[in-house]
Amino acid sequence: MAGGESGMKSYDIGVLGGDGIGPEVMREGLKVLEATAEVEGFKYELVEYPYDSEHYLKTGELVPDSVIDEWRTLDAFLLGAIGHPDVEPGLVERAVILGLRFGLDLYINLRPIKLYAEHLCPLKGKGPEDVDFIVVRENTEGMYSQIGGHLKKNTPDEVALVNGVYTWKGCERASRYAFELARKRAGEKGPEHEPKVTLVDKANAIRPQDIWTRAFASVAKDYPNVATDHAYVDACCMWMIKNPEWFDVIVTTNLFGDIITDLASMLQGGMGIAASGNIHPGKTSMFEPIHGSAPKHAGKNIACPLGMVGAIQMMLDYLGETSAASRIDAAVGNLLTSGTVPSADARSGIGTSEMGDMVVARVRGD
Ligand SMILES: NC(=O)c1ccc[n+]([C@@H]2O[C@H](COP(=O)([O-])OP(=O)(O)OC[C@H]3O[C@@H](n4cnc5c(N)ncnc54)[C@H](O)[C@@H]3O)[C@@H](O)[C@H]2O)c1
Repeated sequence: MAGGESGMKSYDIGVLGGDGIGPEVMREGLKVLEATAEVEGFKYELVEYPYDSEHYLKTGELVPDSVIDEWRTLDAFLLGAIGHPDVEPGLVERAVILGLRFGLDLYINLRPIKLYAEHLCPLKGKGPEDVDFIVVRENTEGMYSQIGGHLKKNTPDEVALVNGVYTWKGCERASRYAFELARKRAGEKGPEHEPKVTLVDKANAIRPQDIWTRAFASVAKDYPNVATDHAYVDACCMWMIKNPEWFDVIVTTNLFGDIITDLASMLQGGMGIAASGNIHPGKTSMFEPIHGSAPKHAGKNIACPLGMVGAIQMMLDYLGETSAASRIDAAVGNLLTSGTVPSADARSGIGTSEMGDMVVARVRGD
């Protein structure tokens, strides 16, 4: 980050629109970023990268290590989505997404679940006061650690092995982030709010996951004013539907966090509206919608860009542009409570670019 000639802060932001609907939602997100920067008075340079699946199909090239080194020098990174039907499943996703998460040690995957307007929630009798929690997903270990492989592949004797990796450091730092976040949310929400962190695991069936139980308990001692709770991941899914208001901050493993947040996204209106931050506090971090490339919706101008907009809001908050982040939050809230947006999925009847324009107008206060 540098101060521009005008004294305005200026940020270098890496951008990779990616595959499928990725570039479409990125285009709308960047429109919102541009309008917000003009109104709020900060500058940025976009550094565009080509490493999507089309690039791989044309050149055979995945992200080189030297580029991952370069990403560390940026202020932040924005990703649309990766995943192409003509490429081996997960190949480019692992290169880009895991390249960023593991390469930059982005050990927190932060996923806010916030319902802006009751009509977006499929649950009967639940409104914005009931759906407002945040999931802290450990982001560099667990079942995604890429340790495993096949023996005697494509024979009747084939064996596939995968190792779940849980380190004390990984469990401790994710838990600490969750408790700090609970404390911060309590400060923002006022004295009525009772901060709570819920650990979600499956330590009854997967006994080594009790490293999470012990690391969580040891961190909790430093936060006597934050309540603690625990749910096995299967029960967590049930409670999220039955009583989403019970959750404040959830901390969980990489795999469980990935899965429960797709479910949780439906409580706030769907995959099209859910955003995430891949964070290493104090270092270059990456922000993206939680959805993938949704190939069936690509090129039709029907994907909802609000997840990408939410990712940009999270990025600005992370960069310390809190007024800009609040402006986007208010713009999206105003749009979704205005009665003009029936849903945040591809059947909303509102085009991707039209939805982007609607947010931009509200950011500008038109
Ligand atoms: N971070 C990432 O880039 C990421 C994440 C998940 C999946 N993927 C990849 O994306 C590809 C497709 O995966 P998938 O179909 O399992 O998941 P997906 O998230 O792309 O799509 C699942 C469904 O969610 C809905 N949806 C998603 N985004 C939407 C939006 N912005 N607006 C409206 N509706 C939306 C659509 O109905 C879609 O069919 C795969 O190649 C997968 O590997 C990438």
